[in-house]
Amino acid sequence: MLRQRVLITGGAGFIGSHLTERLVREGWQVTVFDDFNDAYDSRIKRDNLSAIRKNVELIEGDIRDAVLVERCFARGKFDLVVHLAARAGVRPSIQQPKLYMTTNIEGTFNLVDSCRHHEVGNFIFASSSSVYGVNRKVPFAETDPIERTISPYAATKLACEQICSNYSHLFSIRARCLRFFTVYGPRQRPDLAIAQFCRAILDGRTLTRFGDGHTRRDYTYVDDIVEGIVRSFDDRGSDYEVLNLGGSATTRLCDLIAMLEEELGMQARIEQAPEQLGDVPLTHADISKARDLLDWEPKVPIREGLRRYVAWLQETKVLAWRRFSRNQKPYGWCWPSSAWCVFFGMPTSRLASWVMRLTIGIGGVGLIGDILANRRASHGCIG
Ligand SMILES: NC(=O)c1ccc[n+]([C@@H]2O[C@H](COP(=O)([O-])OP(=O)(O)OC[C@H]3O[C@@H](n4cnc5c(N)ncnc54)[C@H](O)[C@@H]3O)[C@@H](O)[C@H]2O)c1
Repeated sequence: MLRQRVLITGGAGFIGSHLTERLVREGWQVTVFDDFNDAYDSRIKRDNLSAIRKNVELIEGDIRDAVLVERCFARGKFDLVVHLAARAGVRPSIQQPKLYMTTNIEGTFNLVDSCRHHEVGNFIFASSSSVYGVNRKVPFAETDPIERTISPYAATKLACEQICSNYSHLFSIRARCLRFFTVYGPRQRPDLAIAQFCRAILDGRTLTRFGDGHTRRDYTYVDDIVEGIVRSFDDRGSDYEVLNLGGSATTRLCDLIAMLEEELGMQARIEQAPEQLGDVPLTHADISKARDLLDWEPKVPIREGLRRYVAWLQETKVLAWRRFSRNQKPYGWCWPSSAWCVFFGMPTSRLASWVMRLTIGIGGVGLIGDILANRRASHGCIG
């Protein structure tokens, strides 16, 4: 496809920033539309874009603001819209259903309606495997009847697919609804399981495992998702297509934690909690349609993806400690432990830093400093 002008909503987020980087690298003219909301620390999102900030046009605003969306489209014609902005995640959607309904449904409507008025004929929408709900047939295929979503988040994604279907039919907009299956990799949203588990293990905290560990997920590495999105720009399908993008293999939660322990070289302390409302017991993608229409195949198996994720996490943690030791003057007395962490690298650094601090007599003060340091490091680096 000719590399032209693309609008990426949610381009500062986890998946969006990877896509933005790739399209900038390939010579697209990219506009990012993102409101940097506080679903998680907005500094992480700014960090996500930092390497390419100069190469993109950034519109900072809310997709629920129809006037702003309209103004964005009026600034010059887009050839393509990739709509990733959303309130994401199942569990928080149960706490704040209205926020999910307005952001996801109204926001998607504003975008697709602007496409209609500004004759943008190519719309890619980020849907989710959660629309399958408690589907009993595995693997999940796009043709499976969707009878029972079990979270407000899933309901909004399904509603958006229907909006895309309507607009595609009525106004000849080519629309793709891509159902992503649990995406992971560098910059993963901090609320997602892999990110949370890693941070708990690295910080020596107890991690909470919901259920007995036998739930299964189809995990998909972020580079594979980005490849699938790019291939959907000009695939050989009809005007409206729904496509699964998944790893096409399942991993048990307890095996995932064991793999993370191995990669991190540290033991997890696990407490079990009841399964969460809205969580499905299993996701598993049938990807034959994506194989057929996009010539797409996930390339990164879970073990390799986790290795890459952990390598990124350790690198950024060390960088954060470096930043911390340079910039955080009020806690400057902590810097010797930071230096040791950098020297040893994670994860053994924690033990080393404690031993060192004890030996030089910083004692209790140092421990408090470390807690503060960790808190700051996790804000400053995971992103
Ligand atoms: N990560 C996954 O495992 C996964 C799985 C299935 C579907 N998805 C979907 O993929 C998309 C991207 O997910 P992600 O994991 O990168 O999430 P993310 O939260 O990191 O990215 C979403 C981005 O959208 C922005 N945004 C949210 N509401 C907005 C609004 N009202 N106006 C403007 N910008 C707004 C956020 O600031 C954020 O930068 C979402 O639509 C999500 O539902 C993700």
